[in-house]
Amino acid sequence: MLGPPGAGKGTQAERLHEDFGLLHIATGDILRAEVAADTPLGTEARRYMDAGELVPDEVIVGMITQRISGGDARDGFLLDGFPRNERQADALAEALEQLERRLTAALLIEMPDEALVRRLTGRRMCVKNPTHIYHVEFDPPKHADVCDQDGARLVQRDDDREETIRHRLQVYHAQTEPLIDHYDHAGLLRRFDGNRNANEVHAHIRATVATLRLEEEL
Ligand code: AP5
Repeated sequence: MLGPPGAGKGTQAERLHEDFGLLHIATGDILRAEVAADTPLGTEARRYMDAGELVPDEVIVGMITQRISGGDARDGFLLDGFPRNERQADALAEALEQLERRLTAALLIEMPDEALVRRLTGRRMCVKNPTHIYHVEFDPPKHADVCDQDGARLVQRDDDREETIRHRLQVYHAQTEPLIDHYDHAGLLRRFDGNRNANEVHAHIRATVATLRLEEEL
């Protein structure tokens, strides 16, 4: 899944995981778990994440290569937040070749920057399960600051402050956006309008993935 911070990659990936049973691999969630567990990797990653910078490729590539080689990824997986630059895209292609697998599609959710700032400043996340995502305005929980699904506390991500969000957007435009052309040239790109409500975006992506699945089976 491709798209700027706040476009709805995590929200949609979680729904597609439920629809198609695809393993959801979110680099941001994996890194935040390392930070929470206070591991050496987490300590290193935190400096970059809090500043809105990309964590060094060496750390990320090994982590993802290991994840997609696992047995639970055999029936397909969704990459959310990876690759994020040309070097990571090349490393992914190499890893897939070694596994004798290939990408089915690059799903791009598009959104203008100003709308993204509003999305991210209002985002709240469950402390127990980071895939439970809410928005104070667009998708509020039933009880303020409490997760509907497991009753845990909702928190704001450290990097969802306006200044850091604006820097993350700059990093996206400079380093990740070139991947749109990369996957377009490879004939893999599918575009979705992230400005629509989450159910509409979901219906559109689900229909596309279902068609791609059908084509793979033929
Ligand atoms: P990461 O966690 O991947 O953050 P991101 O890419 O910036 O994306 P977000 O998680 O912020 O947004 P999203 O598109 O998933 O939106 P969401 O569904 O939550 O990365 C964080 C950091 O980790 C990076 O800055 C970097 O430091 C590091 N990192 C991660 N991967 C890396 C890599 N490969 N290489 C190097 N470093 C890496 O939705 C946002 C909000 O909007 C929510 O509140 C949601 O409820 C709401 N919403 C969603 N869809 C809609 C809709 N259609 N309408 C209205 N509201 C909506």
